[in-house]
Amino acid sequence: MRHKILVPLLLVVVSFMLVAAGLWGLRQYVEHERVEAVATALRSLIEMETNSLSESYFVWDAMYHAAEAGDLERANSYLKGLEKNNPLLISIGVARGIPPSDHSIVAKGNQLSIVFPIHDDFKERTAANAVGIAVLDLHRLLGLLATEPLGISGFRGIKVMEGLYLVHGWHHLSMLDILLIGITGTMLSLLLLQRYRKQALFFENTRGLESIIYLFEQTEKLSASHSRNTAILALFLGQKMGMRGRRLKNLYLAALLHDIGKIGIPTHIIQKAERLDAEEVEIMRTHPVISARILRSFREFEHLGDIVLHHHERMDGSGYPDGLRGESIPLESRIIAVVDVFEALIGERPYRLPVEASEAFARMRSMPLDQQLVVLLEQGYRELAEYRPPRWVLGYSPWILP
Ligand SMILES: [Fe+2]
Repeated sequence: MRHKILVPLLLVVVSFMLVAAGLWGLRQYVEHERVEAVATALRSLIEMETNSLSESYFVWDAMYHAAEAGDLERANSYLKGLEKNNPLLISIGVARGIPPSDHSIVAKGNQLSIVFPIHDDFKERTAANAVGIAVLDLHRLLGLLATEPLGISGFRGIKVMEGLYLVHGWHHLSMLDILLIGITGTMLSLLLLQRYRKQALFFENTRGLESIIYLFEQTEKLSASHSRNTAILALFLGQKMGMRGRRLKNLYLAALLHDIGKIGIPTHIIQKAERLDAEEVEIMRTHPVISARILRSFREFEHLGDIVLHHHERMDGSGYPDGLRGESIPLESRIIAVVDVFEALIGERPYRLPVEASEAFARMRSMPLDQQLVVLLEQGYRELAEYRPPRWVLGYSPWILP
């Protein structure tokens, strides 16, 4: 009883976890893409700002001459008050120092320091002992680009430049996310629960049939082993005919259960060693109809009804119950008919010895069976000893293999 609640509960929990993880992953991916875009834009913005500062103040004759003359006071007076007009600037000035060949940028914490060489108007000369230094406010730069705040790091995240990385925070789930998880999670759990219910029902039905087969086996040991062998042979021949998946499973189950209707035939007729009289033959011939009726009473097996109903039909119309001919007999029924006869011939019976396979095939060639199938079975017969049925066979009938 416990697993009846536990499994569905687990399915619901797993569904919601899957949906939440999926949504979170998606959000992270979108966030990563956004930060990549911001990093690219930030790189361009820094470049633009650097070029603008350089062209405006550090490629300029007046600045060059003041710096070259060592008059830092004059040089700095040209830059006075700039911070007030440019909110991105924390500070800007000229100081003593060895000029780099080109401007160099260093990120540290929330600041970006840019060191400029000081040139004349034509960039022909460079002041020897002075540099321009501008410090930019990274948070303000980022504020121009990102609608949501991003973290700045010196070593982890998405790289903007050496020493400057952008980090996105953990994405908190919004109300919309929670609503989405609720709806999708519920839908997924319902879908899984429905599948589980179907499986459970199938299992219950199979169990029901197993019980019937078990009872059937207790009344007639020979029929039981005959059904198992027939089912394996049908599987073998069905695969030879190119059947796969659900169709092959149906063939197997139908072959396993084709004679289940014998449960409705009086035991004295079933077990009679002598020849049956005309009336007994008539009774015996009702077993495919009873088999079909039994299977049709199980929702999961009702589609096997037609197959078992016609397993005693013959190609020339001499079979029963409907006297169908040729290809109007379902292929599955024709397969079962062939392997049914073959198994009966090579199997032991109380009143005769088993027949050799070659002799059985010789006899079958003159019977009104589907000869294409007889030939196929004969050709594949040698492989049969090595034949391993698919693993699902055990699931349906755990008693079949030792
Ligand atoms: Fe039969």
